[in-house]
Amino acid sequence: MMKTFNINSRVILVLCIMSLGIWCYGEEDYNDAVPMEEGEKTALYSAIQGFVGNWWNGSDLYPDPCGWTPVQGVSCDLFDGLWYVTALSIGPILDNYLDCAPIVEFRPQLFELKHLKSLTFFSCFVSPHEHPIIIPSKNWEKLAGNLETLEFRSNPGLIGKVPSSFGSLIRLQSLVLLENGLTGELPRNVGNLTKLKRLVLAANWFYGRIPDNFGGLNELLILDLSRNLLSGSLPLTLGGLNSLLKLDLSNNQLVGSLPTVMCYMKNLTLLDLRNNRFSGGLTKSLQEMYSLEEMALSNNPIGGDLQGLEWHSLQNLVVLDLSNMGLTGEIPESIAELKRLRFLGLRGNRLTGNLSPKLATLPCVSALYLDGNNLTGELKFSGWFYGKMGRRFGAWNNPNLCYPVGLMSTGHAPYGVKPCQQEVSLVEASTNSKLGDGNFNQNSRLMASLGFPSYVIDGFWRFYLVQVFMMVQLLNLSL
Ligand SMILES: *[C@@H]1O[C@H](CO)[C@@H](O)[C@H](O)[C@H]1NC(C)=O
Ligand SMILES: *[C@@H]1O[C@H](CO)[C@@H](O)[C@H](O)[C@H]1NC(C)=O
Ligand SMILES: *[C@@H]1O[C@H](CO)[C@@H](O)[C@H](O)[C@H]1NC(C)=O
Ligand SMILES: *[C@@H]1O[C@H](CO)[C@@H](O)[C@H](O)[C@H]1NC(C)=O
Repeated sequence: MMKTFNINSRVILVLCIMSLGIWCYGEEDYNDAVPMEEGEKTALYSAIQGFVGNWWNGSDLYPDPCGWTPVQGVSCDLFDGLWYVTALSIGPILDNYLDCAPIVEFRPQLFELKHLKSLTFFSCFVSPHEHPIIIPSKNWEKLAGNLETLEFRSNPGLIGKVPSSFGSLIRLQSLVLLENGLTGELPRNVGNLTKLKRLVLAANWFYGRIPDNFGGLNELLILDLSRNLLSGSLPLTLGGLNSLLKLDLSNNQLVGSLPTVMCYMKNLTLLDLRNNRFSGGLTKSLQEMYSLEEMALSNNPIGGDLQGLEWHSLQNLVVLDLSNMGLTGEIPESIAELKRLRFLGLRGNRLTGNLSPKLATLPCVSALYLDGNNLTGELKFSGWFYGKMGRRFGAWNNPNLCYPVGLMSTGHAPYGVKPCQQEVSLVEASTNSKLGDGNFNQNSRLMASLGFPSYVIDGFWRFYLVQVFMMVQLLNLSL
């Protein structure tokens, strides 16, 4: 029974009094009669005062903190007929929440709130230089019986290491240490918190390897260790996180190849490994992560090519970012089978070959970045496609790529790509160039579609016809 319920029963009571004479179905226990445990009340006042400053006199301001004078950020619940605090949020989460003083202290009374289920600090410890503060190392075990949520968010003044006694909080389901000034190695003891569903240690100064026992957190749904200084390779045990929905290890200094055990994460929807130093190519097991909606591996020297994966098996992909990875080879047509794809980033690689016009048939695509590669030949998307995409179709910085001159008149040409004209005259000058071959094949297909059986088109005649069809294209009379 929560505080809000308490208020509801009062409303019912008031309504009953107003309608005198009507028999009342109100709550059995009239909550004014229910007191808050005295020691609990004193501990709450003192704990809060430690964070908001000595000017804050709880007994004056909030004589009945679980009843008529609720404190913003405090929730209560009944145990054996007495009110106890179950949730405490410190910091400006909403306008009239408990704002922290410049100098704060964790008072030991905080740990006497033994029914606490949720403890949150938001933007409370904010001066890393004048008033840095360290998380106390002792007493956390006193909260072990009930604490399910522990969060420190946006506290740049919170420095030092994560106390190893966090490992005693065995009922924790959510541990969030986000955007603080914490440092040291990731606490191994956190690997003992096997009830955890969410573990977010992002945007701190943590360094060293990811502890291998994190792989034992097999109820984990969200693991976010991004924006730290983590190094070393991924422990193979991570494959044990088979309930995981989101894995974000981006912006660290992780190395080594992508472990094949990741394929056990069948429910993973987000895989973000951007901005690390992973290498060793795209492991084939990636294609077994059928639930993936976002795969972001950009800015890693992963290398290899795109051919090894059966992309069509990743039917749920919405975002695929493989930019700046040193990828070589061609872009496989099977990527065009990812019908839910909205974002495809392949920029800054060393991709070669022609671009399949099938990519324009991706029904949801709204950004397609292929710039900074070595793609060749003629772009065969429609003017409508370029018009729709604007600069979200990035094909610039592919020196050997061009678009058909015919598009110039439509006003919808791919940004930063030159018309094929120059290339064609180049071909005329030197028919042996690589690009000439690309156009050649395309034109022989064109001729076949006009009724010339391919075996007829041979030798000199083929060459002659190619020239004729190129002229036709130049005159903007082509298909
Ligand atoms: C709060 O104020 C009361 C008097 O109004 C005083 O007796 C008490 O000591 C004060 N408590 C704190 C913690 O300052
Ligand atoms: C955590 O688990 C390890 C074994 O994995 C054990 O040795 C250690 O005592 C545990 N720590 C705590 C705080 O329970
Ligand atoms: C994956 O998700 C499905 C459906 O939500 C669920 O039934 C299954 O238990 C999950 N698998 C794991 C290993 O958690
Ligand atoms: C691009 O590809 C062409 C051959 O198609 C090759 O001659 C050239 O060296 C490549 N450029 C780069 C920067 O790799």
